[in-house]
Amino acid sequence: MSYLIETHNSVMKEVYQLAKKVAPSNSTVLILGESGTGKEVLAKYIHFNSKRQGPFVAINCAAIPEELLEAELFGYEKGAFTGAIKTKPGKFEIANKGTLFLDEIGDLSAKLQAKLLRVLQERQVERLGGEHPIKVDVRIIAATNKDLEKEVEAGRFREDLFYRLNVIPIKLPPLRKRKEDIALLANFFLKKVCEREGVPLKRLSEKSLQRLLDYHWPGNVRELENLVERLVILTDKEIIEPEDLSYPFGISLGSEEIELIRTPMSLFSVSSNQEGLALPDLTEEGVDLISLIKEIEVFYLKKALEKASGVKTKAAKLLKLNRTTFIEKLKKYNLA
Ligand SMILES: Nc1ncnc2c1ncn2[C@@H]1O[C@H](COP(=O)(O)OP(=O)(O)OP(=O)(O)O)[C@@H](O)[C@H]1O
Ligand SMILES: [Mg+2]
Repeated sequence: MSYLIETHNSVMKEVYQLAKKVAPSNSTVLILGESGTGKEVLAKYIHFNSKRQGPFVAINCAAIPEELLEAELFGYEKGAFTGAIKTKPGKFEIANKGTLFLDEIGDLSAKLQAKLLRVLQERQVERLGGEHPIKVDVRIIAATNKDLEKEVEAGRFREDLFYRLNVIPIKLPPLRKRKEDIALLANFFLKKVCEREGVPLKRLSEKSLQRLLDYHWPGNVRELENLVERLVILTDKEIIEPEDLSYPFGISLGSEEIELIRTPMSLFSVSSNQEGLALPDLTEEGVDLISLIKEIEVFYLKKALEKASGVKTKAAKLLKLNRTTFIEKLKKYNLA
């Protein structure tokens, strides 16, 4: 994708300007932002608006075990290890004259951090089992949803590698901090999906839109896009009302629907390291404890499911619940 959806948000406008400016250069770019904020979309935009003739090659450093990742990145010669039945070039070679997008760079092991640093310094790679270095001309765009500076402080990420990557940092704001864009994005996705599915264009009623504005969007733009897709497929009405949001909308809490989010929830957001929850302070205004508890439950239920790759027994264990209780809770919150 080489286009970016229009924005009304000032921080995003700056992001777009910066991306436009750095795209034609060969500089290393480090894209930071929570999951689903559009890091890969931005990386592609930068590549496809550059002068680089080679391909855009992406690799997710968190999704693959270390040994496999090493072989993928650097390539290998036939016989380098059991199973290496033929020579295979690595992603660095494949991305020659193009861009290598190193996604989830914050999850790279210490060993591969050292190897990557060497490649960036020397601009050449050596395949596993290889004897000669191969010159590569690759532009690096790295991305992470971790706070890399914290990772450096904690000794989990090499400082020298961080400085090599942090040439042009671009930080994408979470969706809850760019509410001006929610209607714009929702309408963009509505149009896109309706056209794709060949159904008449649907729109959101004012109340539905307010719901979306009040929600805190832990999954950011991707979550909004998925919601819209579900709405188009599952709702027959032309105008989408709040009750239509309730089934697929991750935040709907079924029959005991809570008055969504207004004050407490906007404060109640996933903290930047994505590991915990930032709870609202108890001020004179008070907090809606029942709603908060529900939100906490939903947060951990989803997180556990995600961590357990959807395996309910495992997810239940992570929350120290027995399976039946876990499933009951999923049902209660329409997460089943
Ligand atoms: N500026 C944008 N323009 C167009 N589409 C966008 C934009 N931002 C996000 N999206 C949409 O949001 C979805 C998520 O974007 P993307 O995959 O780039 O996020 P990410 O930050 O890489 O997420 P993750 O950390 O989970 O990998 C994409 O499917 C894309 O359609
Ligand atoms: Mg991504």
